[in-house]
Amino acid sequence: MPPERSDDPRGAATRLEAAVAARIAPTPEFLARVARCRTDLVERATAIARERGSPLVRALVAGSAARGTFLQDRLDVDLFLLFPPELTRERLRAEGLAIGRALLTDPVTRYAEHPYLRGSFDGFPVDAVPGYAVADPSRPLSPVDRTPFHQEYLAGRETPELVRDVRLAKQFLRALEIYGSEAKTEGLSGYLVELLVLRAGSFHGWLEEAGGWSIPARLSPPGAEPPRLPEDVALVLADPVDLNRNVASALSRKNLATLILSAREYLQAPTEGWFERRPSVAMPKAEALRRVMHRGTHVTVVELPRPDLVDDTLFPQVRKAERTLAEEAGRLGFEVLGRASAVGRQRLLFGLELAHAERPGVRYREGPPAGIARTSDFLEKWRPDGSTVLQGPYLRSDGSLAVETDEPVRSAEAALGQRIPSLSLGRHLTATAASPFQIRPLAETPESEELSELLRSLLAKRLPWPGPPSSDK
Ligand code: CTP
Ligand code: MG
Repeated sequence: MPPERSDDPRGAATRLEAAVAARIAPTPEFLARVARCRTDLVERATAIARERGSPLVRALVAGSAARGTFLQDRLDVDLFLLFPPELTRERLRAEGLAIGRALLTDPVTRYAEHPYLRGSFDGFPVDAVPGYAVADPSRPLSPVDRTPFHQEYLAGRETPELVRDVRLAKQFLRALEIYGSEAKTEGLSGYLVELLVLRAGSFHGWLEEAGGWSIPARLSPPGAEPPRLPEDVALVLADPVDLNRNVASALSRKNLATLILSAREYLQAPTEGWFERRPSVAMPKAEALRRVMHRGTHVTVVELPRPDLVDDTLFPQVRKAERTLAEEAGRLGFEVLGRASAVGRQRLLFGLELAHAERPGVRYREGPPAGIARTSDFLEKWRPDGSTVLQGPYLRSDGSLAVETDEPVRSAEAALGQRIPSLSLGRHLTATAASPFQIRPLAETPESEELSELLRSLLAKRLPWPGPPSSDK
C-alpha cells in the first residue's frame, strides 16, 4: 500500500517528528554516561601524556558525542589528541598512537587520511585521533585540525531543539542510506547535517528548503564559494571555519537527488516509514534469470579478486571500473541498459545488462571520402577478395567509402574478455596474470551473497522510499 496522502501534512509531520524524536532520543541516563566518558577520557589522556612526558597540548572530545547529536545505536566517541604544530608527522603519529594504546581497551590501528586508533573506553567505542593544535582552521596541518573549531562553532549555536532535529535529520538520511561521507556511501557527513539544520532552523524547515534545490545546489553566496570545485559537484556549502573547503564535497549527485525528491515526497506524505531502515531484499539468481528472460536482455558478470584496501580507497576504484567496463562494452558494439557492482569479502563483481548476448557477425568500417589520397590505402587494405571482407568496399550515399568485414568474436563475454586485460579499471584493480578475472553470462555465475546484491542493484532499481517495490516483474 502506498503511504496515504494526509489532508494536513504539516500537522501530521509535526506530530510524527515529535514521536520519532522521542523514540530515537538517548535517555538522560545514557547522556549522563556519555558525559562521564568524555570527562574521564580527557582526564586520563592528559594524565597519560604527563606520565610519558608527551608534548600533548590538549585532549578534547568533539563530534556528535560532544554535542548529543548522535544516533544512539551508531555512537562513537571522537577523541582528538592535539600536539604542537612543530612536531613532525612521524612523532605526531607515534605520540598519538602511544597515548591511545595506553588509554583504550582493545585498540586497533585504522587508517583514514591518517592513522588513528579505534578501541573502547567505559564501554563506548572510541576513536582516538592525533592532530595538530593549530591557531587558524583555514590552515590545517592535518585533515582533522579543523574539528575542534567545528565543535566550538556548533556547540555555541545549537539549542536542545536543534540537537533533537539533527538526530531526526540523521535518522531520515540513514533510512535513505545517504548518511555518512565515506567513499562507500558518498552521502552527507554528520557535520554537514548539523550545519544544514542549523541554517534552516529546524528539521522540517531544512526539508522544505531541500525540496526546492536543484543540482548543483549552491548554498554559499556566489562570491564566497570554495575554490576549485569539481565539475560534477552536487552541493556547495563553505565550511564556516574554513571558507576554502566545501563541507559537502563527498556528496554524490545521485544521493543529493535522492534527498531532494525524498524531501518533497515526505512533506506530502509524512509517515513513520521514512525514519525506518528499509530491509534490503536480496535477489536470488533464479529470480534474476526470470526477469532477464522477461526483459529479453542479457546479463554478463565480471569477477575480480578483491584487493586488500580500505573502503575509502577501494570504492572509488570499484565505481571507476564499473564505468570503464560499461563504456568498453558500448564501444565494442553492445547496447548497455544497466550496470552495477558489488563488493564481497573475497571478490568484486560487476554486472552489465546488455540488449543482446551477441553482437552481429559483421563489422562495419567507415572509410575516407572519394577524392583524397587515403582512399587508395583503404582500398588496398580491404580488397574484396580479402579473407575477412564480407561486403564491399562500396560507396555510401554521402560519397565516402565503407567496407563490412567478418567479426568472429560475437559473444559479450568473449569480446569484453579480450579487452579487460588492457583496460585501466582502477589503480589496484587492473587484471594481471597474478590477479586474473572471470567473465561469464549470469546463468554460469555461481550464487553468492554479493551476486544477489549485484542483481538487486542491476534489476530491481527503485526510489529508496518507504512502501512496497514499484514493480515486481
Ligand atoms: N569531520 C569533518 N568532515 C568529515 C568527517 C568528519 O569535518 N567528512 C569532522 C567534523 O568536525 C566531525 C568530526 O570530524 O564533527 C567527527 O567526525 P564523525 O564522527 O564522522 O562525525 P560526527 O559529527 O561525530 O557525526 P556522527 O554522529 O556521524 O558520528
Ligand atoms: Mg562521530
